[in-house]
Amino acid sequence: MVTRTVDLRSDTVTKPSDMMRAAMANADVDDDVLGSDPTAFRFQSEMAKVMGKEAAVFVPSGTMANLISVLVHCEVRGSEVILGDDSHIHVYENGGISTIGGVHPKTIKNNPDGTIDINQIEAAIRKPKDELCFPTTRLICLENTQANCGGRCLSAEYIDSVGVLAKKYGLKLHIDGARIFNASVALGVPVDRLVQAADSVSVCLSKGLGAPAGSVIVGSKDFITKARRLMKTLGGCMRQVGVLCAAAHVALRENVSKLQDDHRKAKFFADGLSQIEHFSTDSASVETNMVFFKILDTSRIPPERLCEILEECGVLLLPASSTSIRIVVHYQISESDVHYALTCIKNAVHQILAEKHQNKESNGAIAT
Ligand SMILES: Cc1ncc(COP(=O)(O)O)c(C=O)c1O
Repeated sequence: MVTRTVDLRSDTVTKPSDMMRAAMANADVDDDVLGSDPTAFRFQSEMAKVMGKEAAVFVPSGTMANLISVLVHCEVRGSEVILGDDSHIHVYENGGISTIGGVHPKTIKNNPDGTIDINQIEAAIRKPKDELCFPTTRLICLENTQANCGGRCLSAEYIDSVGVLAKKYGLKLHIDGARIFNASVALGVPVDRLVQAADSVSVCLSKGLGAPAGSVIVGSKDFITKARRLMKTLGGCMRQVGVLCAAAHVALRENVSKLQDDHRKAKFFADGLSQIEHFSTDSASVETNMVFFKILDTSRIPPERLCEILEECGVLLLPASSTSIRIVVHYQISESDVHYALTCIKNAVHQILAEKHQNKESNGAIAT
């Protein structure tokens, strides 16, 4: 029986630390819908300061944080948002910006480094003379780190250039910064500098930072007032939310400094995977806590079978496509977990190849 679990499906799987649990138990709370939860107030003020924006609001999830941000920027139905075709907002958020907000997505191909081409953004902006037929562009969204591109970092210079373009056309810029602290640490750029050009940023607290739940939206005071109101409409306002903010505050204080180590372990993982014959891993592109590896011959090594065998060893992975698998490192993955998981992966490959070989032999035996 396996007693060890190495959960590499996502950085969302962390369990709250003892310090977080203690902070939750002791949090001074009140009704936040009435605006009087002191712990929420303190945490939101701190987040606004750290992110270099006027105000912040705690939101139940990253999905809701993005939805609210896009909808506040695109108050008029039929507005258009320019965003990456592999962005979380476009791929994984149930098309909420369209179904709930009447916002039209104009996608641009994400480059392998997570950027979207600035010339293509400019070309996609609708011209006022065409307004009879086309939706009106109001917003550009970027994602940093860009998860589906492998957790790649968008640089401050790139974001600044998109910001300049947005200003030129009177558009707003939102950053899905679910893992913005990973980007900040990997680039060595303070997080407030990284998002300077953005009008709003959503930051997940329950990913690399390891809090049990929640995200924060930061922006101008006026923007956050509107965001709070829309959150109430969506049923996202919570009463004694300080219980969650207390854990998130511990995450902010304690865990940003651990991200560098997560990135180092992810790189080590990628280097190990790139030595496995039947995989293709671009170790050089691993910048933060994510590693994607491709299975070169899925007829010989089916990803589902690989994940199944690994699960029996307590190693949990998430297939990213029919040919690739994603690994995400977080602060509750130790050095020894990485070694254990790599050994299990190598053994699983051998086991699958041996099974295939045995099947072939026994089929041959039946045929003769
Ligand atoms: C880049 C990115 N943005 C937004 C989200 C949504 O966060 P949540 O799961 O809290 O809704 C995720 C979740 O994995 C994400 O990876």
